[in-house]
Amino acid sequence: MLFTIFGATGDLTTKKLIPALYRLYEEDQLPEPFKIMCVGRRSYETDAFVQEVRAKVDGAYPDWEAFSQNIHYYTMDFSDPEAFAGYGEEISGLNLPKHGDRIYYLATAPHYFPIIAKALIDHRLLVKGDMRSKIVFEKPFGEDLDSAKAYNRLLLESIEESQVYRIDHYLGKEMLQNILTVRFANKIFESIWDHENIESVKILALESETVKQRGGYYDRSGALKDMVQNHLFQTLALIAMDSPMGLNDTLIKNEKVKVFEHLHVADEVIFGQYEGYLNEKDIPLDSRTETFVGLKVFVNSQRWRNTPFYLVTGKKMSKKLAEIVVTFKNASCFFEKGQPEKNSLKIEIYPREGIILQFNGKAPGLQAYTMPMKLDYCHMCNVVGNSAEAYEKLILDVIHDDSSLFTRWDEIEGSWKIIDGISRLKRFEPLYIYSKEEEIMKIVEERWKIGLM
Ligand code: BG6
Repeated sequence: MLFTIFGATGDLTTKKLIPALYRLYEEDQLPEPFKIMCVGRRSYETDAFVQEVRAKVDGAYPDWEAFSQNIHYYTMDFSDPEAFAGYGEEISGLNLPKHGDRIYYLATAPHYFPIIAKALIDHRLLVKGDMRSKIVFEKPFGEDLDSAKAYNRLLLESIEESQVYRIDHYLGKEMLQNILTVRFANKIFESIWDHENIESVKILALESETVKQRGGYYDRSGALKDMVQNHLFQTLALIAMDSPMGLNDTLIKNEKVKVFEHLHVADEVIFGQYEGYLNEKDIPLDSRTETFVGLKVFVNSQRWRNTPFYLVTGKKMSKKLAEIVVTFKNASCFFEKGQPEKNSLKIEIYPREGIILQFNGKAPGLQAYTMPMKLDYCHMCNVVGNSAEAYEKLILDVIHDDSSLFTRWDEIEGSWKIIDGISRLKRFEPLYIYSKEEEIMKIVEERWKIGLM
């Protein structure tokens, strides 16, 4: 197998891709022989590149020596289609068996996608119908609806849909995969999953990190396209979709697409930018790019009439946290002692993976007081070792030709339609500058009269 990373000097390589490939190697999941070709415009010798990668990846890598023998670095300007002839020669020189997979992973900014894809197709490195050659796109797929449509057209004119993998790594996270199981394998949830019983849903994805070295990409994208169009919308779709006729890939995606078709954004979109963003590398001094978004949306379906979904994401928050909180309506009750709290179901994605169900019970003692109680399930506590990282699972799925956890074109199309609408409104909305999480969260909480922290 040949696994090429275009844009290999970016953060994603050391943060996610190499660690995921390493774990797969350690677990004997990579087809042998394999090579990882790292392609970037910066000039490096392979040894120096490998050393730099090792210094950046976190954690223990006992088999690094053997694994890293398979990493190669190739300097190339991938915005120049002519340069692909040289790349083609370089990979032939690796003498890998002809029958092995060729996986091209585009970890570049989205505007390079069509250039790289077309050059691979023109040089017959990516060949229609040859299912061993596959192309993986990092998100966001496109910069808006028009560019996404153009990229997709280009691809589908020249290769099969089944050779295309549009990644959204949130879909590879354990607890996102768990949402459908929890919803549809349990009568207790399935039968109350609607506007009559649920008061609101909150989806939070907060990060303490700044944009770091990714300013060049991030400033064109902002939190709306970097997180909401993909990760948050995919999470929302899994929570809000109707029951599919069966739990197969096509039927599930059909239902997810309907969520985007029925999604309606309430007028209030809250945009924020962390203080100091303008001093980051590659950020224009007058940038109005948002690093925080608060969205209130409704899904106009029978199931969700008037139920608000709150989507909140931001960088430079006090901590990294990702979770979904489903709050149920008040029970009609006659208790006089102790006010019952609303039931809630919290699905924890990060840092802990777990589920907490809050309900009311009788407080111990002679009096009939109600008090809140919790059923707490920790997804990892009874498992030896770590659950597979999202990228590990998704790369393995590409190797095994399984696209069920990848986004289908119509899901992307549906989500861009909404994001384009929000982007058009953006210049009329204030951009709140925040120096800490509480400041911007307070604005959201006061605007929507909800509790987030
Ligand atoms: C990426 C975004 O897709 O997701 C990053 O581009 C963000 O800006 C990251 O930091 C968050 O993913 P995770 O898995 O670390 O929560």
